[in-house]
Amino acid sequence: MKVVTCTAPVNIAVIKYWGKRNEDLILPINSSLSVTLHQDQLKTTTSIAASRDFTEDRIWLNGKEGDISHSRLQSCLREIRRLARKRRNSAAEDTVSRILNYKVHICSVNNFPTAAGLASSAAGYACLVYTLAKLYGVEGELSEIARQGSGSACRSIYGGFVQWVMGEREDGKDSLAQQVETESHWPELRILILVVSAEKKHVGSTSGMQTSVETSPLLKLRAETVVPERMKDMIESIKKRDFESFGQLTMKDSNQFHATCLDTYPPIFYLNQISQRIISLVHRYNDHYGQTKVAYSFDAGPNAVIFTLEPTVDEFVELVKRSFPPESNGDTFLKGLPVKPGLLSPDLLSAVGSDLCPGGVQYIIATQPGPGPSKSEDVSLDLLGSDGLPKQSV
Ligand code: DP6
Repeated sequence: MKVVTCTAPVNIAVIKYWGKRNEDLILPINSSLSVTLHQDQLKTTTSIAASRDFTEDRIWLNGKEGDISHSRLQSCLREIRRLARKRRNSAAEDTVSRILNYKVHICSVNNFPTAAGLASSAAGYACLVYTLAKLYGVEGELSEIARQGSGSACRSIYGGFVQWVMGEREDGKDSLAQQVETESHWPELRILILVVSAEKKHVGSTSGMQTSVETSPLLKLRAETVVPERMKDMIESIKKRDFESFGQLTMKDSNQFHATCLDTYPPIFYLNQISQRIISLVHRYNDHYGQTKVAYSFDAGPNAVIFTLEPTVDEFVELVKRSFPPESNGDTFLKGLPVKPGLLSPDLLSAVGSDLCPGGVQYIIATQPGPGPSKSEDVSLDLLGSDGLPKQSV
């Protein structure tokens, strides 16, 4: 039996992907750009075993057996195996050919709650494709395959700042992710995830964007004219480490994505009242300082992702804590990178207003940009035991 274990990161788009021009190949109607989050805080771990004793391909997700016949899962398995057959080199040929005839057992876990509405499918499919590639010794372009699992997954194949170029071809060969800058490019950049609701989202991204493509004229305008311009500006602001411009573009793009959701018929609502309060808190905070010190972004759910620079973290977290006082779990409110208690000046407090919303934010995860997927060399981290089944602890 051969077992390989790898980990892959979550990414958050600052120029959003919303809408496909080809549903099967997952080809988008616009390019997008994301920041890869650090795996110390958020990651998927996947172990894949191949053995001649296995009678069928099987998968376990977060401790429960899943449906291996799922079409996107099958696309990833088929494409990687196809590449492995094509790229076999003579030295590795024997082992790879042998393993290619074996069935696989796949076991995958997230170190964060799936229900928190964080982009678990992106990390999940990136990890699946990366681990399969290591198992079969496939080198090279993996984002094209990860994309066929979930669009946003192609961006989790790289660390740092990553663009997904929409491409023009009908076969999707040029619809790929590319690293714009590495994770060490902007050392002061910090990301705070404000978990607002652990409920499962009502409308999934896949079906939501389908309805938007069919019904929203704003989405068409966005894809054709707004995003191409914004991609250029965003790349420039990242290269220059210009937070003023990065933050404004991030907020405007999140807002336009949610506007296209409202322009969809029937409309889709992902933001709730807490999300709206966070938006207004951010704007009041920035207004008080007369510059963009923090920026928000929201995906297909109510949780806020806040981008800021290191010197602002302590004060802004203190402000969130004050505006959304933790109801019970005061000591588990902050997870991830250390945050020091901040001081709030009376001027700032009067500028942001005094209405409080107890329990509105459940907890905060503080993180930073991080690297792409990697292979684990520590066998104790394998999720599958010597019998090829998930270990008890999984
Ligand atoms: C709002 O990648 O989850 O997070 O391709 O159908 O699997 P599928 O959709 P998915 O959509 C992500 C949408 C988004 C924006 C983004 O990540 O760019």
